[in-house]
Amino acid sequence: MANVTQRHKFSKHRGNESDRKPRDGKFIRKPKKFVKQTKVLVEKHMRFPGVYVSRGKEDSLCTLNMVPGMSVYNEKRITVETNDEKKEYRIWNPYRSKLAAGMVSGCENVYMGPGSKVLYLGAASGTTVSHVSDLVGTSGVVYAVEFSQRSGRDLVNLAKKRPNIIPIIDDARYPQNYRMLVPIVDCIFSDVAQPDQARIVGLNAKYFLKSQGGVVMSIKANCIDSTKKAESVFADEVNKLRKDDIKPKEQVSLEPFEKDHAMVLGVYRPKDI
Ligand SMILES: C[S@@+](CC[C@H](N)C(=O)[O-])C[C@H]1O[C@@H](n2cnc3c(N)ncnc32)[C@H](O)[C@@H]1O
Repeated sequence: MANVTQRHKFSKHRGNESDRKPRDGKFIRKPKKFVKQTKVLVEKHMRFPGVYVSRGKEDSLCTLNMVPGMSVYNEKRITVETNDEKKEYRIWNPYRSKLAAGMVSGCENVYMGPGSKVLYLGAASGTTVSHVSDLVGTSGVVYAVEFSQRSGRDLVNLAKKRPNIIPIIDDARYPQNYRMLVPIVDCIFSDVAQPDQARIVGLNAKYFLKSQGGVVMSIKANCIDSTKKAESVFADEVNKLRKDDIKPKEQVSLEPFEKDHAMVLGVYRPKDI
């Protein structure tokens, strides 16, 4: 991984020593190409298209802000200027977002990128939805389902500024209610923290997920069964997904960002197609 400041490749070749020795009491200016330094502040993430990494004392995940000048939940923004073009990125904190926690925890594929259609179950006020909106960009869409009226108000306000978010204030247990709003999608992300979450995901997959589409599900063990060990709850949820034709590909622990949480990622392979 590169450091905050990467010297321009020419900077190794510093010209002749004599170039830098004082002449008439002054240092001569080195030829420009030898002194140029390029600050590499933000790079594309190697595994996740549409996600970036800002290099600093500590590296941070970030997304390219679709609405420059505006934070969504008071998150930090950074501006990078390259070739007279300014770009603004929003820092994506894995302590505030399980999707970011999953990426930082090493999952390989989140099944979404620029242009993707994502069905997001459990959108809350839109903290993570806003980053998914940046990630999929103007050619993608996030169908964000949330049943709390209060969070739903924030979500609707967020969608006024971000045209690629379609807020759906409804219960994810009843996908038939929003079937007129949601087309076939590339990925379902779920963070509803409900005991029947796997069933909710399976049902939504049947309605909306394309064959070979991705499923990303965050599991909070004690929401499902607080009497069992977290590992055994995760294993049960994976088996439930299998029964709904979702083939698990990866499971990552979200600790230390979220205690007793895991993220399960898989691919939908409906038998009847
Ligand atoms: C853990 S929070 C989601 C946080 C959000 N994903 C984020 O990162 O910003 C879970 C959310 O799911 C919502 N929720 C729970 N059950 C739901 C259901 N059946 N249908 C729709 N939303 C639901 C809750 O109201 C809550 O806002």
